Amino acid sequence: MTDRTGVRKAFNSYVAAYDAEDPKIKLKIAHTYRVAALCERIAGETGAGRTELAWLTGMLHDIGRFEQIRRYNTFVDAVSVDHARFGADLLFREGLLERFAPELTEAERRILEKSIRAHNLYRLPEGLTEEETAYCNILRDADKIDIFRVNCETPAEEIYNVSTQELKNSAVSEDVKECFRNRTAVLRSLKKTAIDYPVAHLCLVFELVYPVSRLIAREQGYVEKMLAFESENPDTRAWFRHMRENIWK
Ligand SMILES: [Fe+2]
Repeated sequence: MTDRTGVRKAFNSYVAAYDAEDPKIKLKIAHTYRVAALCERIAGETGAGRTELAWLTGMLHDIGRFEQIRRYNTFVDAVSVDHARFGADLLFREGLLERFAPELTEAERRILEKSIRAHNLYRLPEGLTEEETAYCNILRDADKIDIFRVNCETPAEEIYNVSTQELKNSAVSEDVKECFRNRTAVLRSLKKTAIDYPVAHLCLVFELVYPVSRLIAREQGYVEKMLAFESENPDTRAWFRHMRENIWK
């Protein structure tokens, strides 16, 4: 049984140690609550997992982000740490979990740890049980759905480290277009230009596991908002038209 009030309180006191004025910290706090609520909803509507445990995976999935920002001042895992592994190590190897949820059973701890470690992977690891796979999928879907919102509400300078003008001028790489055509996520190494990043984020639509996740993503409207991007590059404009027509098919 998860003591939600206790978890919320512990989360608030944990993040209070970080700079609340830093927009990166603010973003991750809001993202955490959104993802937790989405996990709960997906678990509830699919029956794929218990809502309370799914909610908890959402609350703790990005706990490594705060220390990552404090130590490295970046969200880019490639130049700092793998934030999922880092967060799971803090929770499960350094005892941080006791602050949030000391009452979990061994089985719940295992599910929580596996879900957190796998949440940012391109593909799920081998060897997960059916139950573990379900919680991993719920969290991964919830996280992706909220990425669409973050894309719309955060300036390009902040998420992609590029200027808005650069974004408007740039062309989509052929490899990234190919991922969209194949309806698959984009490997990090394929992203070359500024506009590749939002296009890659849009490709996450194809990775949503549960039909209800697609429904939520559509109903929130952030995907449409991303697709309405007005490029000043004619090829990119045509490409966005193509994506608008095909993304939900
Ligand atoms: Fe994450």
